Amino acid sequence: MTGPLLHATDVTVRFGGVTAVDAVSFDVARGEFFAIIGPNGAGKTTLFNCLSGLVKYSGEIEFAGTRITGRRADQIAQVGIARTFQNLGLFSSMTVLENVLVGRASKITAGIPAGLVWYGKARRQDIDAREHAYEVLNVLGLTALAHTPIKSLPYGTRKRVELAKAAVVTPQLLLLDEPVAGLNHAETEELIAAVLDLKDAMDLTIVLIEHDTFLVMDVADRILALNFGQSIGLGTPAEIQANPRVVEAYLGASDASTSTSGSAR
Ligand SMILES: Nc1ncnc2c1ncn2[C@@H]1O[C@H](COP(=O)(O)OP(=O)(O)OP(=O)(O)O)[C@@H](O)[C@H]1O
Ligand SMILES: [Mg+2]
Repeated sequence: MTGPLLHATDVTVRFGGVTAVDAVSFDVARGEFFAIIGPNGAGKTTLFNCLSGLVKYSGEIEFAGTRITGRRADQIAQVGIARTFQNLGLFSSMTVLENVLVGRASKITAGIPAGLVWYGKARRQDIDAREHAYEVLNVLGLTALAHTPIKSLPYGTRKRVELAKAAVVTPQLLLLDEPVAGLNHAETEELIAAVLDLKDAMDLTIVLIEHDTFLVMDVADRILALNFGQSIGLGTPAEIQANPRVVEAYLGASDASTSTSGSAR
């Protein structure tokens, strides 16, 4: 298929008097590693919420040539968009494998009545789900931890489990909301390497939110910079680094962003 995988035009979200996302337009090519940066409150998560059907917006979003504006979150998951959340979304007393299978559950189509009638189909899907979960765990180096409860894992490993949980639905597009927030330098490197492994192994397109500009410079193909809901730059890492509006937004916001950021490093 030609054309971009994701095509967003004039996406706008208002919360009362606040314009959280202000006429933002961008394309993401198939196979691209695309980053969205911006200071706290810039509208990054709200933009993800638009892409994943969790908030109402004006404007248009197309995915793989199909308009997805107005679709519900579960319908968007079905077309091949998966995401992680800024705060850990794992069940702490459940094991790694159980958490990953929760991610997969949305993909299992044999409902209860069908499962009773066609027990075989439901059982086959269950086996497929486990096999596939193990493939994903393997890519992320989590196989040996499959039966370990989340609560006994270090934070960095939990973030990798979140990646596995999102990737297990075999999406085409994976949206990652500040996946390295709260990680130290070594854990950050490890997590970014895990994202790249996953991207290669599963042929994914990645959109990653990060508020530390330097972190995405090495990995992103292109970067969209937001500030107060508006796009203040879109281009290669070199172009973004040289963009005066981006530099100004970060210098102006540096005090606030270091004191209120979740990504303490
Ligand atoms: N549900 C909501 N109701 C009202 N205002 C909201 C809501 N969600 C977000 N906002 C506001 O919209 C703006 C953008 O918030 P958003 O969470 O998208 O920013 P962000 O770039 O993800 O920030 P951070 O780096 O802190 O995660 C902020 O002013 C925020 O207070
Ligand atoms: Mg956010």
